[in-house]
Amino acid sequence: MFKSLVESIGLIGHAVLDSSPEGILLADREGNIVYANKSYTLICRNDGQERVGQNIFKTNPQGALTQVLLTGQPVFGKKHLPPGAHAEVLSNGFPIHIDNQLVGAIVFFREAGEAIKLLDELAKAREDIPVPSDGLGQIRQAGYDFDKIAGQNQSLKQAIVLARRVAQSDSTVLLRGESGTGKQLFAEAIHNTSKRKSYPFIHVNCAAIPDTLLESEFFGYEKGSFTGAGQRKIGTFELADKGTIFLDEIGDMDLRLQAKLLQVLQNGSFRRLGGIKEIKVNTRVIAATNRNLEELITKELFRKDLYFRLNVVSIEIPPLCERTDDIPFIVQALLPKISCRVGRVIKGLEDKAIAKLESYCWPGNIRELENILEKAGTLCDGEWIKADDIYLSQLPSMETGSIVSLEELEQLMISRALRKFGSSLAGKKEAARALGISLTTLYNKLRKVQ
Ligand SMILES: Nc1ncnc2c1ncn2[C@@H]1O[C@H](COP(=O)(O)OP(=O)(O)O)[C@@H](O)[C@H]1O
Ligand SMILES: [Mg+2]
Repeated sequence: MFKSLVESIGLIGHAVLDSSPEGILLADREGNIVYANKSYTLICRNDGQERVGQNIFKTNPQGALTQVLLTGQPVFGKKHLPPGAHAEVLSNGFPIHIDNQLVGAIVFFREAGEAIKLLDELAKAREDIPVPSDGLGQIRQAGYDFDKIAGQNQSLKQAIVLARRVAQSDSTVLLRGESGTGKQLFAEAIHNTSKRKSYPFIHVNCAAIPDTLLESEFFGYEKGSFTGAGQRKIGTFELADKGTIFLDEIGDMDLRLQAKLLQVLQNGSFRRLGGIKEIKVNTRVIAATNRNLEELITKELFRKDLYFRLNVVSIEIPPLCERTDDIPFIVQALLPKISCRVGRVIKGLEDKAIAKLESYCWPGNIRELENILEKAGTLCDGEWIKADDIYLSQLPSMETGSIVSLEELEQLMISRALRKFGSSLAGKKEAARALGISLTTLYNKLRKVQ
């Protein structure tokens, strides 16, 4: 074992670190700050030596060092106001390994002022370029690749093999599986493995956008094409040019829009609402649904021709209850995320806790597993989750007198209502009526759980 982290720096190390124009902080594995260089004091206008000895998990749980220690991964460009500091900083943090062991983390930072001013100016300039309502959060970096999809189960592995193969082509892909099984993860991994990876990945949740808005969301509109269209708006298909558009919950798209989508898929072009110019796009489509499309076709709620067009390669992602053998791997993969969410290191689960998870039926799949682990992580004393920390949310039956959070109850009622009435527009209207809320409120609540 090496001495202490700070002793290991040595005389020359100190001189080198002190000569850096960037502020530097060093924390040990437990999060205790062991070193602050001279520039720290200059940049933060706060005495660095007072920071030494403080624990970052307590004083700065949102900081870069905390994030690095919790995840073991580097962090780049984090904007933050350190505790006691008088200036915001932009930080890059890195884990420190000795003999393959994580022994601490180091962060380098500069005053954010100048850089932020430039970024703000850039952001302001970009406001003039109207983009779709990205309040819905669909424009984001695809973060996953196949290596991050945890699990060893045979049917999952088959799905991964097929997805890897299809990633190399431009084929349309249909991802099928229950909610929370990882369809989005697959979509991101396909994009990131494809030759389109440096172009946009755009996620559109067809169930979370009212049908009336979805068309302008997809295709955009020209200035003045309808009341309120004050500016030209670029639609998601255009934004995803050269990249991938991920049409999530495609089974919930209304029939009229299905026809328009089919046209785009067939012609590779479309017109903005109120526009006359044909716009050509080269966008790969990945669609996903948890609904039985064949059944929707027999009920005439889904177009057969669109189905054939989308179903070129279909990948079925197995539900968690059919691969409980994967639970230990998935739990392991989720630990850094859970640690980040609860703000301290969770090292793992005791065997009995894993056994408890393996015996449950998982109607909400991995998303539910994540939520249950987060709750357990918040409740547990220390770094290990025990069986007693795990509360499995069996549907709360009103008779047993069990108490669940109002938020959970709300979600439960919403999903019951949607199961009963279906998630088409008519179904959602019925569901909203039964729940005693407006359709807009229902959409807002649905968006919250995406
Ligand atoms: N194999 C996996 N390993 C780790 N996390 C997973 C895995 N599959 C899904 N997740 C996580 O579970 C959650 C739900 O996955 P998501 O892709 O959104 O499901 P779906 O789109 O099918 O509803 C996400 O937070 C995702 O990161
Ligand atoms: Mg999803």
